[in-house]
Amino acid sequence: MPGTPDNGEIPMRPLIAGNWKMHGMAAQLREIEAMSKTVHAARTAADVLICVPAALLSRAASIAAGRIGIGGEDCHAQASGAYTGDCSADMLKDAGATTMNAGHSDRRKYHGETDAMVAAKAEPARRAGLTTIICIGETQAQRDGGNALAVCGQQIAGSVPTDLARSGTIAIAYEPLSAIGSGHVPAPGQIIEVHRKIRECLLERAGAAGADIRILYGGSVWSDNVHDILGLADVDGVLIGGASLLA
Ligand code: PGA
Repeated sequence: MPGTPDNGEIPMRPLIAGNWKMHGMAAQLREIEAMSKTVHAARTAADVLICVPAALLSRAASIAAGRIGIGGEDCHAQASGAYTGDCSADMLKDAGATTMNAGHSDRRKYHGETDAMVAAKAEPARRAGLTTIICIGETQAQRDGGNALAVCGQQIAGSVPTDLARSGTIAIAYEPLSAIGSGHVPAPGQIIEVHRKIRECLLERAGAAGADIRILYGGSVWSDNVHDILGLADVDGVLIGGASLLA
């Protein structure tokens, strides 16, 4: 079972989250319809969420009709203002989002987002009533240099506001950069080791509440490996990019 603890506690309900990135026209919404029907009919033993581009959000939310969650892919830290092209957490909520991503490696890489910028988005998201999936993960060079655990620990420290960790309105997604879109999933031991480290950091920051924060794995998750990944210790869900485009 996902994140099965070895102490007899009930495992938390997993979160299967998709991230469409900059993909999807209106025709793609038929996939949302198919996914939400399947999840509803199968009474899936997991929460299902698809994060879509802002342009599709309200239509996706209306089609999903609460059977699956619909999320935004990013937000601005301010509620409103002269920030052309940006979208606030309140706007995502107003359009029907339940959740949003913050600090995805695409945002860190192409928009220069720092840990502090990611943390600054999570608080307005909480005020808007959204759960925030905060993405972290090391580069291959950081891993090769033996720094992966330290980097992930620093990203948690910098990107996760302590009060939010305590409030139960966040999830963490561990996405090693070498795994994203590459077809190369790290060895199970690597995922388990980093997730354990993330759990330790969350417990340090949030006390007992840190045990209830979902830690997702992301990077080249597909239908043929998702079951094995969900079976790893301290994996409470997955964040799926390319494979989430099709129901
Ligand atoms: P992928 O992307 O599943 O296509 O590797 C994951 C992500 O970027 O969140």
